[in-house]
Amino acid sequence: MAVTIIVGAQWGDEGKGKIVDLLSAKAGVVARYQGGPNAGHTVVVDEEEIVLHQIPSGILHPHTRCIIGNGVVIDPVILMEEVAFLESRGITVAGRLFISHRAHLIMPYHKKLDTAREAAQGAAKIGTTGRGIGPSYVDKYDRCGIRIVDLLDRNGLREKLIANIESKNKVLERIYDGESLDADQIIQDYVAFDQRIDAFVKDTTVYLNRAIDAGEEVLIEGAQGTMLDVDFGTYPYVTSSNPIAGGACTGLGVGPTRIDKVLGVVKAYTTRVGMGPFPTEFGVEFGDKMRQLGGEYGATTGRPRRCGWFDAVIVRLAAMVNGLTHLAITKMDVLDTLPEIQICTGYRYQGRTLEHYPAELWIQEHLEPVYETHPGWLCSTREARHFSDLPKAAQRYLRRIEELTRVPIAIVSIGSKRNQTLFMETD
Ligand code: IMP
Repeated sequence: MAVTIIVGAQWGDEGKGKIVDLLSAKAGVVARYQGGPNAGHTVVVDEEEIVLHQIPSGILHPHTRCIIGNGVVIDPVILMEEVAFLESRGITVAGRLFISHRAHLIMPYHKKLDTAREAAQGAAKIGTTGRGIGPSYVDKYDRCGIRIVDLLDRNGLREKLIANIESKNKVLERIYDGESLDADQIIQDYVAFDQRIDAFVKDTTVYLNRAIDAGEEVLIEGAQGTMLDVDFGTYPYVTSSNPIAGGACTGLGVGPTRIDKVLGVVKAYTTRVGMGPFPTEFGVEFGDKMRQLGGEYGATTGRPRRCGWFDAVIVRLAAMVNGLTHLAITKMDVLDTLPEIQICTGYRYQGRTLEHYPAELWIQEHLEPVYETHPGWLCSTREARHFSDLPKAAQRYLRRIEELTRVPIAIVSIGSKRNQTLFMETD
């Protein structure tokens, strides 16, 4: 039995939802450690597409228990909608979903501040999901956040909320020229939320560590991806948490010595949503074609995703900062009709070759990718059930990714359905 962290090794949307869903079949516990409803994890079950934003996709397997850890920021409105949606499909959530009492809440003023700031930034905006993620983490680190435990202390909650709303209203009115929020309404809503969430609240750190001690199979699920990490991503065009594997330790209260494997999920090409550097991005016409082929529209916001070639430099960075032990390659089938496929093996900048992803935004924006070209396979991979069923050119493409990233591939996904998955012969 093992503890495995699953992380995105690009800019998010790598298809982690499907991989977590598959591996959850054997897991006792599935836990999420960072981010919030900015994530959109899509799973296809019996032809139906299910998108989950906050609850780990492991919930779709009746025997798994799911944890939303202390590092996650929770929007109670979206959470309750998600619970209702799952229960309407006959999936029992009560008794299987546990929420950390230390997790922070996303408040209505966080959402307002997120969208107001983005609107004020104009062309310099980050392109956030508008779900209040950044402002909620700001309050956490500014030590004025509202945690789930605060809901238990009605009087204290009222005081904290009033203080927060007063100061946020000043910012909304005076800096963003926006409307202020009604404190009474917010207090009323959050008190009502307390009654509904009570059944899910737990000391998830104790619960999870006990499950590990008992030898259960545990999956730890990251949201977003390494290049959106607030420390290692394309700062400031990043999210406000640590999607990398280290974030799992702080976001759940699990020591690094308890982790056995780290699986990095990557698409067979690259996508990103929102603004910021993207060295291997396609031109407009080819980008449109790939967006159609891959159905590349955001699961949370519906925004078109930017598309580009596979970038081995960023996956090497991901391998290093996450300590990846294995890769899962997704959406391999999207490349089926391309006569030629490129892989970026390095960058050139002002006549120099760069082996590592630079931190300087002004360099990131002017990197020239160095490509190697691979022949396409020009046939469908969707019916393959073993690696050896894949056309030789597809096998070579995957082997080259292993060489360039120095990480063995454990899983290849060739379609959105559960059975469109190849497991390599590794542990
Ligand atoms: P935020 O997380 O809403 O603050 O957005 C910050 C950046 O992260 C923006 O570029 C978003 O598009 C991006 N982002 C946030 N969540 C996801 C995700 O789940 N997939 C892909 N991009 C994301």
